Amino acid sequence: MRVMGVQPHILLVTFPAQGHINPALQFAKRLVAMGAHVTFATSMGAKRRMSKSGTYPKGLYFAAFDDGSEHGFRPGDDIEHYFSELRLVGSKSIADLICQVPKNGGPFTCVVYSNLIPWVAKVARQHNLPSTLLWNQSPALLDIFYHYFNGYGDTIKKNISDPSFSLKLPGLPPLGRRDLPSFLDPRNTHSFALSVNKEHIEVLDEETNPKVLVNTFDALECEALNSIGKFKLVGVGPLIPSAYLDGKDPTDTSFGGDLFQDSKDYIEWLDSKPESSVIYISFGSISIVSKPQKEEMARALLDTGRPFLWVIRTDGGEEKEEDKLSCTEELEKQGKIVPWCSQVVVLSHPSIGCFVTHCGWNSTFESLASGVPVVAFPQWTDQLTNAKMVEAVWETGVRVGANKDGIVEGEEIEKCLELVMGGGERGKEMRKNAKKWKELARESSREGGSSYRNLQDFSNEIGGGAM
Ligand code: UDX
Repeated sequence: MRVMGVQPHILLVTFPAQGHINPALQFAKRLVAMGAHVTFATSMGAKRRMSKSGTYPKGLYFAAFDDGSEHGFRPGDDIEHYFSELRLVGSKSIADLICQVPKNGGPFTCVVYSNLIPWVAKVARQHNLPSTLLWNQSPALLDIFYHYFNGYGDTIKKNISDPSFSLKLPGLPPLGRRDLPSFLDPRNTHSFALSVNKEHIEVLDEETNPKVLVNTFDALECEALNSIGKFKLVGVGPLIPSAYLDGKDPTDTSFGGDLFQDSKDYIEWLDSKPESSVIYISFGSISIVSKPQKEEMARALLDTGRPFLWVIRTDGGEEKEEDKLSCTEELEKQGKIVPWCSQVVVLSHPSIGCFVTHCGWNSTFESLASGVPVVAFPQWTDQLTNAKMVEAVWETGVRVGANKDGIVEGEEIEKCLELVMGGGERGKEMRKNAKKWKELARESSREGGSSYRNLQDFSNEIGGGAM
């Protein structure tokens, strides 16, 4: 896709959610450092909300597209309606962006787009621009969807409700029904999830030698990266700020695109806690945790007696009276509850001993890159597969089990926390593995490392220089 003699200018289009904006912004910064110009485009609502708290390099610009919604996608919105509007209105809006000559950086020479918006590649083609998918979830997820639409769909649909079902796909560990992405289960599926992923695969199938950039690194997921013979998946991660990785740019300390207000008042509190003593709990930017589940979590935290930092999002509003936890006063004596924090800052803090996570791909990967062991608490979508990898493949954590009503009880959470943080052999092993992956993540990003080389190759392909 090399475009000779022209300053490379990438239009980087991301789905307007935190888990997509963060890695894409980091990807943009790296390419700018390699000599490209990048215009980062997300929805108007998300662009308005982005805190722009980071420092951005010269050569990185911002633009917005219309997604057909006043405020962008928010937890609780009608997801099917949102996706159909996004496709309809978004296609036209992205086409307009491509046609206008941008104020900065010259005409666009290529398009990079994130998950959930495969139609962006079609718009790019209509305007004769090459495009590349930046897959910001695990390669295993792309593999699973690929195989689902290429021979395994009927088997999965037929057997997914059987508790003894185990599926062996190329390059992946055997997956039971609770390890498969929730959208493959006809009882839980959303039609947008299947159709969007089907379109991703069709778009790639139409290309000659399709290459996908993935937010992972070779040593972590070598087999998953090679599971689909016809697509070349290359690891370019971890896409997290440099200060927590190779340290090449110590000023790069935040993603720089938070959609939520960060109170920042937890750093001093963390500073006052002993090394590896604090439990950090967060369920990402979309999941909504039920009140009974939060009460169980609170009970477990109080029973451990350990300090904790717990993110309970209020999504911009005040906490409602009916959402207030019964034991808030005791919780506040032992730990800290915040509506949002800078997760990469928290995970790199020496006081953090364990991360209770919903296993969104970014949270999973950030915990690995920071060497923090986890209690895996998956909710839906890819999180079930990520939890499986954490527990059974990377062995950096343990997964909770729910009761028959789908609630994870306090005793179970406490047991998992003690397994990860306590003095037993398994805990020691998990902590040791977490440190090992942290080192390997850093190695992949250093000059000559696999992700470094893969990014450099991509930069050369689009006509950028070397770093
Ligand atoms: C969504 C899906 O839910 C997830 O399954 C998928 O893998 C990616 O898209 P989300 O639920 O928001 O993402 O989770 P995650 O992927 O972990 O991304 C959350 C991002 O927000 C992370 O980069 C994390 O560092 C950041 N974050 C989260 C904060 O900075 N502060 C917080 O308090 C919580």
